[in-house]
Amino acid sequence: MIINNGNNISFKTHINHITAKYVLQCMALSGVEVIGVGPQELTLSRESLMKLIEHSPINVVSANIPGLLPYVRFSKDRGALKVLVTSVMDPEVLPQYDVKYDGEISEPISALKRIQKEIDHDLFIVIVHAMGERISTIINSCPGIDLVIDGLTQKVNDNLDREGVVPLLCNNRRGQYIAYVDYRTGAAKAIEKTVVLRAGKKSVKEDPEIKNLVHAYNLKRNEHSRKIREKNQQEKLHAMLQKNPPNLYLGDQACLGCHLDMAENWRETRHARALATLEKKGRENDVECLRCHVTGMHDKHAVGGFASIQETPWMTNVQCESCHGPGANHAQNPSQKKMKMAGVKSCLTCHTEVVDPGFDFKTKFLLLNHSQKVE
Ligand code: HEC
Ligand code: HEC
Ligand code: HEC
Ligand code: HEC
Repeated sequence: MIINNGNNISFKTHINHITAKYVLQCMALSGVEVIGVGPQELTLSRESLMKLIEHSPINVVSANIPGLLPYVRFSKDRGALKVLVTSVMDPEVLPQYDVKYDGEISEPISALKRIQKEIDHDLFIVIVHAMGERISTIINSCPGIDLVIDGLTQKVNDNLDREGVVPLLCNNRRGQYIAYVDYRTGAAKAIEKTVVLRAGKKSVKEDPEIKNLVHAYNLKRNEHSRKIREKNQQEKLHAMLQKNPPNLYLGDQACLGCHLDMAENWRETRHARALATLEKKGRENDVECLRCHVTGMHDKHAVGGFASIQETPWMTNVQCESCHGPGANHAQNPSQKKMKMAGVKSCLTCHTEVVDPGFDFKTKFLLLNHSQKVE
């Protein structure tokens, strides 16, 4: 009979619910027949723990945690031997490990006594999750226990310790040891020798099914972490957009209605024909050229700028919003939302030293016949 005393997941990670599921599958493949819930399993919420148990391939027991199996009883030795196995959790353990389980944990001693009295058995094995004096208190309150497995004390006992007459087994060192116990049936019934095996890399052959499970677990874990990272990023972006909503490019058609004179003047300028110039050179799809011959391309702070001639034909040429910036907020509410005044800086993003050496703002601006107000 293979018994696992719990504590198979770690205390503090956000992936415990995933880990627990895979651990159960691995344990089932290894032939484990019963698991006693330890404080580490109780880092899961009651809801996740119950969901896990519902689909568990192994019996997960606790005498005093409602919702789990209170015990299991195995029929061994061709039906001649009834082996009763359970596990108890001393609630005092949890605060010591800073575990806050949101479900109920009942009083351990009376829970244990009830099972011992009501369930017929020949051999009674109890996994105890308690510390120090509490271990003896629990054991001594239920005379008749045949073997106690100490689920918490960090040590490995090669020979059985004893609490009074009760044999006490302990092999807690990060799952690296397997303790083996012999039981003699009949009149001289007794728990006999123990051997502790170290589950080392050299002595244990790799199991292909378990190897696959570990691989699947790692993938699942990475995917989960990625989702959490992305969710955080989206939340940040959302908060940023709420604080500072991006403006939208509309195109010159949206300005005509209210700025007709300016629009007519603009139509006479070379800015209004900037794409045609590229077309004449056969460069209208060349991103190297487009950025200065269209409107709002590569603007990271607003949406709706030039993307491509096919997708955003209304954003071609050097339009109003090339110099004044995106205009949706203003067009919707001109008296409340002022446009940026363009100024010389806006010209220089395109009239660079390379393409237009010696650019003189005042002279060139007047050529546009656009406005008398020049800063
Ligand atoms: C950095 C911005 C910028 C880029 C990039 C740019 N242009 Fe221009 N282009 C201008 C400006 C400003 C003018 C007007 C000033 C002038 O005529 O020099 C202009 C004028 C022109 C003209 C008409 C004047 C002339 O020199 O004949 C042509 C043709 C032209 N560009 C083609 C191109 C092509 C082709 C590319 C891509 C290889 C390109 N431009 C990339 C800003 C740019
Ligand atoms: C080449 C850049 C450029 C383009 C294109 C442009 N503007 Fe301007 N606009 C300016 C500059 C520069 C000023 C002068 C104010 C300043 O000094 O910033 C100005 C001023 C204005 C003013 C206020 C001043 C006034 O005289 O009433 C309005 C309104 C205006 N533009 C609307 C438009 C509209 C509408 C379009 C498109 C049809 C347009 N602009 C296209 C650069 C531009
Ligand atoms: C619904 C009418 C309306 C639309 C549409 C409109 N504007 Fe205006 N715009 C105004 C009015 C009115 C003013 C004068 C506001 C003032 O003086 O208080 C103005 C002022 C401006 C100014 C001067 C600075 C300022 O904000 O006062 C600029 C530049 C300007 N508009 C550009 C544009 C551009 C570019 C578009 C197209 C994207 C546009 N407007 C669309 C009504 C409009
Ligand atoms: C988005 C890029 C862009 C911005 C911003 C821009 N221009 Fe231009 N400008 C061009 C391009 C491209 C041409 C050439 C168009 C063509 O001939 O096809 C041009 C041509 C001109 C011309 C006619 C050719 C010349 O050099 O005499 C004048 C004048 C001019 N721009 C003035 C200005 C002024 C003044 C500003 C700022 C208020 C300005 N531009 C802002 C891209 C820009």
